[in-house]
Amino acid sequence: MRERLCFFAVGFLLVCRLMNKWTTSGIRALKGKQKVVCLTAYDYSTARVVDEAGIQLVLVGDSLAMTMLGYPTTLPVTMEEMLHHVAAVARGVKSALVVADMPFMSFQVSVEQAIQNAGRFIKEAGAGAVKIEGGAVRVPTVRALVENGIPVLGHIGLTPQSIHEMGGYKVQGKKTGEAKGLVNDAKALEKAGVFAIVLECVPSALGAEITAAVGVPTVGIGAGKNCDGQILVAHDLLGLYSDITPKFAKPYARLGVEMKKAFEAYKREVETGVFPDKEHSY
Ligand code: KIV
Repeated sequence: MRERLCFFAVGFLLVCRLMNKWTTSGIRALKGKQKVVCLTAYDYSTARVVDEAGIQLVLVGDSLAMTMLGYPTTLPVTMEEMLHHVAAVARGVKSALVVADMPFMSFQVSVEQAIQNAGRFIKEAGAGAVKIEGGAVRVPTVRALVENGIPVLGHIGLTPQSIHEMGGYKVQGKKTGEAKGLVNDAKALEKAGVFAIVLECVPSALGAEITAAVGVPTVGIGAGKNCDGQILVAHDLLGLYSDITPKFAKPYARLGVEMKKAFEAYKREVETGVFPDKEHSY
């Protein structure tokens, strides 16, 4: 029986490789060899482009509460809203690993609640893994999810679901005690079975220390260049969300400005009768 399972597992990995499909073990194996490039996406069209660009991991982050739904924090987004977006992203992605972010209060109440909700992301929405915020305190949850076949991406440092407890969006691990706590959190998560760990908003030196301390890839967001990979919120990268712009968010485009220009040009042309012209009419 064991041999047969091994045979099927190897076969599955081989098929994934041939299809160029990123799996959690593929991402894990990049540590020390190649940077892991990750990005958020929340809808089908963006997910297609992100996937075509060769990004290895697409996170449907609960940041969509802010970027897509206009909430001031990530806290209000629900399981149903997240499922809707994860399913849309999964339909757009061929190659990248789709990771669903577990929203506030969808996994904290009990391990049973976490398994049920994480299972919905895999079964109903087509995600390949889930992300949960928190360090050593999440060990029983991570262990139970992994044991039940649900891969987990950890997330420590600044964890926006704890914004009220943290007292704001602040760099974490600046004090020696806090830094030690985060190194221990990372080690505990690795031991519990996460395939990678997001490190958000920690000093670069601590990002490097945690990266050296664990055998799974670290994915930094405001955690310096020595992490094994990087992630950004797509709206920050594209210059589309301007309510809060963190120091670590580098805009690679100014799509907000370009979109406004296009909308204004359209309005002008409709008002002056330039559009629709012959070319765009039947
Ligand atoms: O929700 C999100 O987009 C995230 C990333 C910032 C890591 O958690």
